[in-house]
Amino acid sequence: MKLIFLGPPGAGKGTIADLAVGALGLPHISTGDLFRAAVKNGTSLGLKVKDIMASGGLVPDELTIELVRERLGQADAAGGWILDGFPRTIPQAEALGKIAGVDKVVNFDVADEIVVGRLSGRRVCRSCGKIYHVANMPPKKEGACDIDGGELYTRDDDKEAAIKVRLDTYRAQTAPLIDWYGKKGSLMTIDGVGDPKAVLGRFMAAIGR
Ligand code: AP5
Ligand code: MG
Repeated sequence: MKLIFLGPPGAGKGTIADLAVGALGLPHISTGDLFRAAVKNGTSLGLKVKDIMASGGLVPDELTIELVRERLGQADAAGGWILDGFPRTIPQAEALGKIAGVDKVVNFDVADEIVVGRLSGRRVCRSCGKIYHVANMPPKKEGACDIDGGELYTRDDDKEAAIKVRLDTYRAQTAPLIDWYGKKGSLMTIDGVGDPKAVLGRFMAAIGR
């Protein structure tokens, strides 16, 4: 199964993908996570994207498409995937159409007031990437990951100014994909509000699992 997760920043794409991968047996491919790994490792790609990401803007299409082409060519992606955060522009969607077919595009619907609260309280494990929220999904011990004890940090783009840019960018460049995929007949929209397990249940039901 080849799935795309679409939705504004903070919609819960990463959270629901992490909950679903075990049951579906698919790799979770997040372009945001791939870019953050490149920044952390100080690669030439990382140096190019660091400031763009921190400001909340989009990485240029050519760089992003190349990254995804390479990742989807790896062995674990042969049987399908959950693609989280890509495509984010119409040119990226057109490019993906030439690389691979897509079975379903899942659009997580969450209002702006809710995503702002989610993003400003998000914490992420520096070593394994597990996602927390200080109020909604707190770790057992403050500041430490439940899985590996890793340090929890706040993403550079979860600061107020960058959140605003990300929401504006989403509306201008990514939201048009809802119509674009809607016309192709592969879109389903899911209510992304409520307990993550309830959102996961809605998602699984929508894909017939
Ligand atoms: P990316 O990492 O993809 O960020 P994003 O799309 O802004 O989405 P987020 O990761 O912020 O949100 P999410 O939907 O995954 O929510 P999460 O599950 O974490 O991209 C980052 C940057 O990389 C971009 O800005 C851009 O610069 C670059 N980039 C990436 N892809 C690109 C592309 N294709 N083209 C160009 N540039 C690209 O949840 C958020 C919070 O809410 C967490 O704290 C979580 O605990 C909490 N939460 C989740 N679900 C619930 C729930 N049901 N109830 C309560 N709280 C919840
Ligand atoms: Mg994410």
